[in-house]
Amino acid sequence: MIKRVGVLTSGGDAPGMNACLRAIIRAGLTQGLKMYVIYNGYRGILERKIEEVNRSFVSEIINRGGTKIGTARLVEFEKEEVQDEAVAILHEYQIDALVTIGGDGTYKGALALSRKGINCIAVPGTIDNDVASTDFTIGFDTALNTIVECVDKLRDTSSSHQRCSVIEVMGRYCGDLAIYAGIACGAEIVITRDHMITKDELKTSIRKQINEGKHHIMVIITEKLCDVKDLAREIERDCGIETRSEVLGRIQRGGTPSAQDRVRAARLGVFAVDLLLEGKSGMCVGCVWSKLTAIPIEEALKMKNKDNGFLIRVSSLIK
Ligand code: F6P
Repeated sequence: MIKRVGVLTSGGDAPGMNACLRAIIRAGLTQGLKMYVIYNGYRGILERKIEEVNRSFVSEIINRGGTKIGTARLVEFEKEEVQDEAVAILHEYQIDALVTIGGDGTYKGALALSRKGINCIAVPGTIDNDVASTDFTIGFDTALNTIVECVDKLRDTSSSHQRCSVIEVMGRYCGDLAIYAGIACGAEIVITRDHMITKDELKTSIRKQINEGKHHIMVIITEKLCDVKDLAREIERDCGIETRSEVLGRIQRGGTPSAQDRVRAARLGVFAVDLLLEGKSGMCVGCVWSKLTAIPIEEALKMKNKDNGFLIRVSSLIK
């Protein structure tokens, strides 16, 4: 039976991580467990930044963005000797279980530790929504709302000047933020890794929409696909419409978590503790069609990202 549980957040921070931390700590304490936080992701284990906490440690954070216990990306954690060192340190603190909140990098770390005897449950926390084993990750809804707010503002100025706006949003290799934002903001064109169009197709579409009477055009594009500054210059040159590019950047990761993200975080966090108490390990939690789910992390990592492209009605533009 587990007695001491550590919690860490890792990878890019996401709004709702604090709400999840709060749920995990309080659920664990209520069940009579000793609860520990580990600062700055997996690095905090190696640096022994580990602290036992009580209920009040997580007071006043349910509404705060970022993560109170810090986060980091630790590439070295892929190395076996680094994982062994982490296991030895966790044994030193008599921590027998971990809840890790983050994206796929965090999942890989949890899987490695669970194979070495530390009971681990992974919780999906990233704005990218690129964890295929859950419908939505913690942070996605807030980031989406932030994008919608920004794009609505850009629409005001873009339409006043009769311009085309090319707006790059985050998501790493996942197009969900772009697709959902495209629908919510009524963008004329959405481009993601799974739904690419050629530059010629893009320009033809823009020209066609201008000919049909559109005075301004919004293009939403997932990051890492091209240099949006260059793309905007090319559109302006070839389509006869003044064009500006905007990279929304890390603003998308910050801010007060939405109610959706807080509720999702609380449900997933409490569920993770329940699974540990049932003796489960190497599992990740998710929420599919509103139902809580738990599957082996190994399986989740093999799943292909959901393709939400069916949500966008620009099929004529998709290659
Ligand atoms: O994973 C979240 C995320 O914001 C991605 O959308 C983005 O590609 C990446 O993190 C940026 O990471 P960093 O802030 O470490 O440069």
